[in-house]
Amino acid sequence: MNVPEVFLRKGLTKTFEKFMHRPQTTQQKGPYNATVESNILRSGKFGRLTLRLEGTAAQVFRVAKPGQFAQFDVSNLRIPPAELIPDELVNSAKRNVILRRPLSLAGISDIADAEAVLLDILYCIVGPGSLRLSTAEKGDRISLIGPLGRGFFVPAGKKLALLVAGGMGAPPLQHLAGYLREKHKNIEVLAFAGAKTITDLPYFDIDISKVSDKPDFSIREFSRYAVKSLPATDDGSAGFKGFVTECMRKWLDANKIKPSDAIIYACGPELMLKAAADLATDYGIDCQVSLEQNMACGTGLCQSCAVKCCCPNGEKIYKLCCKDGPVFDSREVVWE
Ligand SMILES: Cc1cc2nc3c(=O)[nH]c(=O)nc-3n(C[C@H](O)[C@H](O)[C@H](O)COP(=O)(O)OP(=O)(O)OC[C@H]3O[C@@H](n4cnc5c(N)ncnc54)[C@H](O)[C@@H]3O)c2cc1C
Ligand code: FES
Repeated sequence: MNVPEVFLRKGLTKTFEKFMHRPQTTQQKGPYNATVESNILRSGKFGRLTLRLEGTAAQVFRVAKPGQFAQFDVSNLRIPPAELIPDELVNSAKRNVILRRPLSLAGISDIADAEAVLLDILYCIVGPGSLRLSTAEKGDRISLIGPLGRGFFVPAGKKLALLVAGGMGAPPLQHLAGYLREKHKNIEVLAFAGAKTITDLPYFDIDISKVSDKPDFSIREFSRYAVKSLPATDDGSAGFKGFVTECMRKWLDANKIKPSDAIIYACGPELMLKAAADLATDYGIDCQVSLEQNMACGTGLCQSCAVKCCCPNGEKIYKLCCKDGPVFDSREVVWE
């Protein structure tokens, strides 16, 4: 499709304009020190880190929006003993991790009777930084900068939010599920959770015996907010067999919804985001995507995270994923 045409579809231009002018967080972004409350590993591949923030950091992160992220300094964390290093990371494990690592906020909760918040982070061990994160223990201190970027935006009048998570795209969508349940109770929420295979589904509380080909409460990360989910795996080892976007397409075909009532929120690998954007165009549904670019500074200084975007007049410009995103309207991104 000719890109500017996408902007001209009826009824969508207004929400797009509002999206473009969504506010940025203006609070201090740190650096802050967080204290590790717990760090749980699952199958040596995924970690769920809970951090305690106090004082100004707690005030600032308490109001962080789903889709925002933080930059973590993991350089002072330990390297695991040799026997715990996955084979594919043996060569890179000892590499210096000078740059901070961007991670999304998967959830924020208040601690009763304390001026503190708990921050949930979900990570996948893919390199030296995330490997070090896996060694963090209760009481360890981790420096973080944030909340950074612009998160998801909820346009007025929406009645249905379809969350599409591909692999490690899950964390910001879990946060969004909780946020919608708390702040937009009138919006029905349904999550599509995809991965290559069952063991790549990055959920800690998934009851495979409950998984069916219908929306169910099998993924507790969503069901704790009374949000149903539909898992999908490329090989059919859990839930729908095929890409998560195909699962959503099938659901849209079976459930006649009013497109202007709905919005798609997607996070995951770029190919999946492009498929979600195409699907949104086909069905005439608003769609926001959270992009993952390699980042250095995370604050708009180094220009390393450029995203090619298209303006409504057809002009192509570069925006910064860390500052203008990571959440973009799907029509804005030039998918290549
Ligand atoms: C805004 C944002 C939010 C993110 N949120 C999460 C999250 O919640 N949980 C999580 O596990 N990961 C998240 N990531 C990805 C995470 O930042 C990287 O996995 C991490 O920095 C890898 O660091 P490392 O030192 O372990 O591996 P590295 O050695 O830095 O990288 C290992 C491999 O992963 C690839 N890689 C690194 N960063 C990215 C990236 N951003 N996108 C695609 N491939 C990458 C590298 O090319 C390399 O092949 C997020 C990234 C961004 C930009
Ligand atoms: S990461 Fe430096 S400008 Fe975006």
